[in-house]
Amino acid sequence: MTVKPEITELIEKLAVNRNLSDEELSVLIESEEATEPLGTAADKVRRRVYGDAVYLRGLIEMTNYCRNNCYYCGIRRGNTDAVRYRLTEEEIMECCREGYALGFRTFVLQGGEDLYFTDERMCKIVSDIRKTYPDVAITLSLGEKSRESYQKLFDAGANRYLLRHETADNDHYHKIHPAELSPENRKRCLFDLKEIGYQVGSGFMVGSPFQTTANLVADLRFLQQLDPDMIGIGPFIPHEKTPFADKKQGELELVLRMVSILRLMFPHALLPATTALGTIHPQGREMGLKAGANVVMPNLSPVSVRKLYDLYENKICTGEESAQCRGCLEMRVTNAGYHIVTDIGNVKRSEK
Ligand code: 5AD
Ligand code: FES
Repeated sequence: MTVKPEITELIEKLAVNRNLSDEELSVLIESEEATEPLGTAADKVRRRVYGDAVYLRGLIEMTNYCRNNCYYCGIRRGNTDAVRYRLTEEEIMECCREGYALGFRTFVLQGGEDLYFTDERMCKIVSDIRKTYPDVAITLSLGEKSRESYQKLFDAGANRYLLRHETADNDHYHKIHPAELSPENRKRCLFDLKEIGYQVGSGFMVGSPFQTTANLVADLRFLQQLDPDMIGIGPFIPHEKTPFADKKQGELELVLRMVSILRLMFPHALLPATTALGTIHPQGREMGLKAGANVVMPNLSPVSVRKLYDLYENKICTGEESAQCRGCLEMRVTNAGYHIVTDIGNVKRSEK
């Protein structure tokens, strides 16, 4: 595809200034011809900061019970067809044991907002992992909680927290969430987490229903304000048992452009090539890496529950054992021209 000089200029400007005006960002977000040159520019920056390293995070999906009813999500409480499960502490520890042996030094405990996992139960799990594996990063991704709860979990040994803001625009937020959820509270959570001392990950879905280019620009602006260590984005994918069953899936190329724009705006950020990206295209994650991503999150959950953690349709990696998933990703990362590193993979802030 031929690239107009204006587009080339905008990409160069973004690479140098790490910023553009709202109008300029909108042009890049919408321009199909920008996908490739944005990827090339982003890969250059990523190699400058992180070389060809790709960090591993082992994902443990510990519960699919959720008190929330987000319109997009397959494990929303309103989906009464969902078969619910929660892992026992022993099962979680077994996932960690297996993961540690496979070289993982970061565990991500993710789940719906499940009231069974009280602060007391969660702190016990976190401190047991911390005692057994002093050299790993413990990442939690368990949704919105009070500042006090976040503090207790931090004191128990957790050091990172993933909570996507989902969309930074208040009106858009209310279009994809029920009234009992508020964008203000979600943002409050993110700033609390940061103040407590967590390394924070945020992010959003690309192509979620009703999303506009202006919304995506607002997401970038919010991220500039929050300055998170990790930014996870992936395409919206409909799930048939949700109110958004008939909505359109997010576009691959748009996700790739957003990954590249994020790399150029946040050179130091940890950007995962997400499972959702791998779900909409067989080489989606490889494309994500080439567009600027530098993290992959293989699944460490027991195979028996994987299909049940059903956020969206046709989710990949649900039939494979942890070792297979790790091996598969290693091969994919190598084929894409990068290499997996097994260290703890902290953010490289010195680049800022
Ligand atoms: N499509 C894509 N991503 C989804 N998530 C939830 N439901 C969907 C869906 N239908 C994402 C949300 C959430 C993360 C765990 O998964 O962004 O934060
Ligand atoms: Fe999980 Fe390929 S990465 S099976």
